[in-house]
This record gives sequence, C-alpha cells and structure tokens, in this order.
Amino acid sequence: MFNKQDDTAQQKLISVINKLIGIIVVLIIALISMPFIFEYANQPAAKKEEKEIAGNGAKTDAANYWTAPDVSSITDAKQKQQVEYGKQLIAHTAKYLGPNGSVLKISNGLNCQNCHLQAGTAVFGNNYGSVASLYPKFRARSGGIENIYKRVNDCFERSLNGKAIDTAGNEMQAIVSYINFLGSNVPKGKKAEGSGFKDVAFLDRAADPEKGLTVYAAKCQSCHQSTGEGVFNADKTEYIYPAMWEKNSFNDGAGLYRISNFAKYVKYNMPQGVTYNNTQLTDEEAWDVAAFVVSQPRPHINVPKDWPDKSKKPVDHPFGPYTDNFSEEQHKFGPFKPIVQEQKKSEEAAKEKNVTASIK
Ligand code: HEC
Ligand code: HEC
Repeated sequence: MFNKQDDTAQQKLISVINKLIGIIVVLIIALISMPFIFEYANQPAAKKEEKEIAGNGAKTDAANYWTAPDVSSITDAKQKQQVEYGKQLIAHTAKYLGPNGSVLKISNGLNCQNCHLQAGTAVFGNNYGSVASLYPKFRARSGGIENIYKRVNDCFERSLNGKAIDTAGNEMQAIVSYINFLGSNVPKGKKAEGSGFKDVAFLDRAADPEKGLTVYAAKCQSCHQSTGEGVFNADKTEYIYPAMWEKNSFNDGAGLYRISNFAKYVKYNMPQGVTYNNTQLTDEEAWDVAAFVVSQPRPHINVPKDWPDKSKKPVDHPFGPYTDNFSEEQHKFGPFKPIVQEQKKSEEAAKEKNVTASIK
C-alpha cells in the first residue's frame, strides 16, 4: 500500500500526463489540418463560393468572370467626367437620344443597357468586357475590319432602329471612352471570361412560335405587355419595360433578331432578375419564346451589303440567299443541327480541295 503522500504525488503526475496528452492531440490535429486551411484561405473568392455552392448541389462554373473596373478609381478629372457621361448614355440612352431625347432625337426609346445589362458589365448579360481588347476586328457581317465607333453605330442603326451618330461628337466620344475604360483591365487580344452571351444548346426540333406564345403569356407579358409595346415612364423619356416588337423595337437587321442570340439573352437574363447562375427558363422555353418574338411585326432595315461572303452567314441568319440548300424557314427556326453538319462537311471539302491544289 502507498501512503497518503505517495498517493497525491501519483495523482498529480497522472493529471500532468493527461494534460500533456491533451495538448499533443490538439497540436497534431492542428498540424494535419494546416494545409487545408491554407489552401482554402488562398483560393480566389469566386472559387470559394463555387465550392460552397457545389456543396449544396447547385450548378457551378469554374471560370473567374471578368468584373468591370470602378469608375471612381479614375484620377484624371476630365477623363472621369467623360467616362461618367458615357455610362449615363449607355444606361439612359433614350433620355439623351430617344424620341424625346434632350440632345438628339435619333433612336427608338430603348437604352443600350436594356440589352447590355448593368451598363454593359453583367456576366453573360452581353457585357462590353472584350470590346476594347478585341476591336478593331474583322466582322463577317460587313466583310471588313470594324472599329468600336462602327460597332456602336451598328447598334444605333439596328438595335435602336435609329441613326448613326457623329463619331467626333461628345456623345460618341463619351460612349467609346466608357467602353475602353471597362476593358482597360483586359489584355489586348484576350477575351474577358463571361463577356457577350452564354451558349444555349441547339434543340433537335425547330423552335415553335406557338409554344413560345404560351411562355410569353406566362412569363413575359406582365412587363413587356401582350401588345409587345412595353411600358414608358410617366414623362415618356425612357422605358420601364422595353418594347419587344412593333415600331419602337429593334429592327430585323439587329443581332437580337437572330433567334440564337435572343435565346441566349433570355435564358440567362430574363425574366428580370435572372442571372447566368440562377435561371428560370428551360432551353426549350428560351428557343420557343425567341421564335414567338421574332415572328411578330417589327421595323425593317435595308442592308444589301451585309454578309458579302454568303458562306459566312450564321446558321440562324434568317435571310437568303445561302450557299446551302436549307430554306429561310429552317435558317430562322431550326432545326439547326443538320445545317451545322452540312457546314462542317463543306468546310472540310474546301480544305481538302486546298490541299490537293497545293500538291498539284
Ligand atoms: C435590342 C438589343 C440591343 C440594344 C438596345 C443594344 N445592343 Fe449592342 N448588341 C446587341 C447584341 C445582340 C450584340 C451582339 C451581336 C452579335 O454578336 O451578333 C451587340 C453587340 C454590341 C457591341 C459589340 C460587343 C462585342 O463584344 O463585340 C457593342 C460595342 C454594342 N453592342 C454597343 C451598343 C451600344 C453603344 C448600344 C446603345 C446605343 C447598344 N449596343 C444597344 C444588342 C443590343
Ligand atoms: C418583371 C418584369 C419583366 C419580365 C417578367 C420580363 N422582362 Fe424582359 N426586360 C425587363 C426589363 C426591365 C428589361 C430592361 C433591363 C434593363 O434595362 O436593365 C427587359 C429587357 C428585355 C429584353 C431586351 C430589350 C428589348 O426589349 O428588346 C428582352 C429581349 C426581354 N426583356 C425579353 C423577355 C422575355 C422573353 C421575357 C419572358 C421570358 C421577359 N423579358 C420577362 C423586364 C421584364
């Protein structure tokens, strides 16, 4: 038997050993988890969010999308003023240049921002992230090299069914400064991730205007109206809900008149409030509502010089003549997969022809 003194000494020893074991266990756990904590802390914010979303089983995208630089970061007062005016002109175009515009009356009442969301900065909201970096560039529609002025005026003439503005004027200069400023964080020649539109897969059938009417009535009409005419604000200086067809809408030479562009815009941006990672429409609904809207009456523009090389017309360009044998109807509504296949075949045939020609 131990005496009492030995007893307490032994208890003290045991409690010290217990504490030591406790500390060692905590240290080991900390050491093991260190690399994970480090990796997590070093991830870019977007990736972290993606992992968190992935954990909830939601759809995610791996890319880090472009974000616009902040106008308030501009130090040169003159440049800042011009860029701010440019941003205003994109966001509230009609107030300055619409049917009741304060500067000129040369366009239909739409704002650039109606289609280039959040003043041209929204991910897959047709943003301007890649304009400064990729223009001037060749465009098959005109068959020539286009600079930013020409591209902006294209949207004035087609999307805003209006007139081109003077490239030396204050308004064009401000718009181009703003677009150049937005792209100032994208290296020349590079495409910004998430600029323009996100693709929607082709259907195996033609898009169906009748089914599209049902989608429109259920999900669009409350804002854009059953007449497609939208809703003007009280003093008629700009739209609250922009026109979708009829006289104040984009004309049949506009990018959005092509059903694939319309489906891409709508799928990832409409009804209002939808974003690329929080969509409402199925692919079928997006194609069908596009088919319905492009079947409604709208202004016409005469552009005989478009697509000088007919073989470069996009599959969904709804006006012939074409270099293939598909009808205008099929080029307007699809199905597009057979057209794409045929295009690939003739491209390969052309390549082979070139090879044999160079061997000869
Ligand atoms: C009705 C919708 C609509 C409106 C309004 C509109 N645009 Fe566009 N814009 C488009 C579409 C669609 C494209 C892409 C077309 C394509 O790639 O075929 C585009 C493309 C552009 C591009 C080229 C983008 C790139 O990355 O190549 C610029 C620049 C542009 N628009 C400027 C403007 C300006 C400035 C305004 C206002 C004056 C405007 N747009 C109004 C639909 C619109
Ligand atoms: C809650 C109201 C609301 C609903 C519902 C809605 N939109 Fe919109 N839509 C808007 C607003 C507002 C804009 C302009 C966005 C901006 O300027 O930020 C817009 C812009 C558009 C544009 C580009 C501008 C134009 O008029 O050509 C198209 C195309 C469009 N919507 C299609 C649709 C379709 C198709 C649906 C149904 C699937 C739909 N929208 C549902 C409010 C709505």
